[in-house]
Amino acid sequence: MYIELAKTVSIMLTLGLMHGVFVNLEFRNELSKQISLGLLFGLICIFGMVVPVVVEPGVIFDARSVMISLASAFGGPLVAITSSAIAGAYRLYLGGGGAFVGFSVIIASSFCGLAFWYLKQRKRIEVNWLSLLGLGFLVHVIVAFLFQFLPAGAVTTVNDQVLPAMFLSFLPATVVLGLLMRLFSKRKEEHIELARLDSERQNALKNIVRALSAALEARDPYTAGHSQNVADISVLIGRRLGLSEEQLTGLELGALVHDVGKFIVPTSVLTKQEKLTDDEFKLIKNHASAGDNILNNIDFDWPIREIAAQHHERIDGSGYPLGLVGDEISIEARIVAVADTFDAMALDRPYRKARGHAAAIEVIRSGGGKIYDQNVVDAFCDLVDDGTITVDKLKDFTIQ
Ligand SMILES: [Fe+2]
Repeated sequence: MYIELAKTVSIMLTLGLMHGVFVNLEFRNELSKQISLGLLFGLICIFGMVVPVVVEPGVIFDARSVMISLASAFGGPLVAITSSAIAGAYRLYLGGGGAFVGFSVIIASSFCGLAFWYLKQRKRIEVNWLSLLGLGFLVHVIVAFLFQFLPAGAVTTVNDQVLPAMFLSFLPATVVLGLLMRLFSKRKEEHIELARLDSERQNALKNIVRALSAALEARDPYTAGHSQNVADISVLIGRRLGLSEEQLTGLELGALVHDVGKFIVPTSVLTKQEKLTDDEFKLIKNHASAGDNILNNIDFDWPIREIAAQHHERIDGSGYPLGLVGDEISIEARIVAVADTFDAMALDRPYRKARGHAAAIEVIRSGGGKIYDQNVVDAFCDLVDDGTITVDKLKDFTIQ
């Protein structure tokens, strides 16, 4: 009897470990997760009843009390209802003299587990070996009581042989599986907490970028709106090129601060209406490497620093500050280069009047494959041709 019970327990413990895989899966929502967990435990119980310890025909014995009580204790009401409904229905379907008692064992285990779940939720008890032992003891004292309602012939065998073996194997089984389930749940909770912290960190980084962008535009009202325009156009091009949502986020943020290096340029130079001197031009040209330095110490998840450093690089090596060629320039910087050129040429600047929409498009189109990435230029031209990008929209551009 002991060996047979040990077999049942080990099979069900192994199946119970599937809980670990299950709780770490991604579900559409909490409802579908709980119903799936209930189904899993219900099916495990059915499996236990397919290969049970047979006391006499119609009186079978397995570890369903352990499974159902723990499923309810960790999963709550919906898991309890789903798993006990499946297991209970199957036990009634099997029939025999022990059917009613077997069904009652399932319901009693479910209620004990739910009481444990309730106390756990209210933080009245902690999940540890002692509380799990208490749960196992309570469940199996009730089970032992219910066994007294088995057919008269089976009661003696059950009391003499099954009960001692049941207490000796099912109590440790409850503790071991319960502790494992606590481990799985904790890992899942830690995973959720880490994801939450990561999302908070990302939001903080996004806010830093937006604050930098706002500060930059506050210094230079003539170009206010330029960074947002470049960001909007860049995202449209990036989306047309099939960049992932994560890449598009980085592209937008990087475009918002692509000119962050202009902090090194005095406002008087940035807003100067007259022709700039050679030294002033040199200073302005330094803004790309200055942007690289400014963003150097912030650990972004996206290539924001590369965008600030490389948006004046050109694929034939004629750009600055490093004269990078082709793929040496990140795709994000190649996109921002086109969006930046278009917005800068299409709208008025303090030191010159706009060259116009058509002229800006022509400069970009003719530069495709030479100074601008051909694929980026093609995507940009498609967006112009289908009316997504127009000069009128630049003033109050928002991403669709
Ligand atoms: Fe720039």
